[in-house]
Amino acid sequence: MLEVKGLTVFYENALALNSLSLDVRKGEIVGLFGSNSAGKTTLMNTIAGLTLDLKIKEERKGGERITVHGELKFEGEEILEAKPSDRVRKGIVLCRERHPVFRDSHVEENLKISGYLHKPSEVKESVRRVYEFFPHLLRLKRRKAGLLSGGEQQMLAIGMALVARPRLLLLDEPLLGLSPAMQADIVRAMTDIRKQGITILVTEQYARPIFPIIDRGYVMENGTLIVTGTGKELMDNPEVKSAYFGM
Ligand SMILES: Nc1ncnc2c1ncn2[C@@H]1O[C@H](COP(=O)(O)OP(=O)(O)OP(=O)(O)O)[C@@H](O)[C@H]1O
Ligand SMILES: [Mg+2]
Repeated sequence: MLEVKGLTVFYENALALNSLSLDVRKGEIVGLFGSNSAGKTTLMNTIAGLTLDLKIKEERKGGERITVHGELKFEGEEILEAKPSDRVRKGIVLCRERHPVFRDSHVEENLKISGYLHKPSEVKESVRRVYEFFPHLLRLKRRKAGLLSGGEQQMLAIGMALVARPRLLLLDEPLLGLSPAMQADIVRAMTDIRKQGITILVTEQYARPIFPIIDRGYVMENGTLIVTGTGKELMDNPEVKSAYFGM
């Protein structure tokens, strides 16, 4: 479904992605693990088109020089130069790290806003499905998003991405800063989302709750992939154990 080959991103002179190659097959949950500044967000933003957008803006104002090259194919089609909105139309939807919500709008308004590309009947159906994935949100549907807890806002952010009707859902550190109970809710929702036929690429630093549900994972360091394997293979890998679990 998604093929990344030799993807390289330079910010000015800093190499954020170093000829990175990976693939995601339809129906999979694929994990991408790495510590701070490994390049996870850069990869997600490059797949979603935000890096290209930033590059164009920086060029206009004569700011930072950003270089992006390599291959990025979605369903066989090269999309490295496509606009973010065109990628959303093709079904690539990113839930950003600490995804912002509209704080003064209530939960259901936030969900509906994300469906602007779709017909009202489709949006209604998508919102209903979001409440199935996150029953907790249903109880909060008239609450202002700005009043939600961090975990509830994260659920809402994932819900907003779902209303955009992804075929490939990109989740950038969805468990960041959440309690173990909230993390478990989100991990469970991810498996439910996949059951609905949505493919998932998810990043995390501390991957323990995610390992059991992934089909495959990649570990990256300084913009380069260092290990790949199934969740179990990664958990048993001595390099991964020492880097992530201090074992
Ligand atoms: N706009 C930018 N300009 C310059 N350098 C940047 C920019 N965005 C990211 N970087 C650098 O690129 C590297 C990769 O950053 P990135 O945000 O992709 O890492 P990450 O794996 O998501 O880290 P974290 O776990 O902290 O979110 C870092 O060294 C970061 O400082
Ligand atoms: Mg990040």
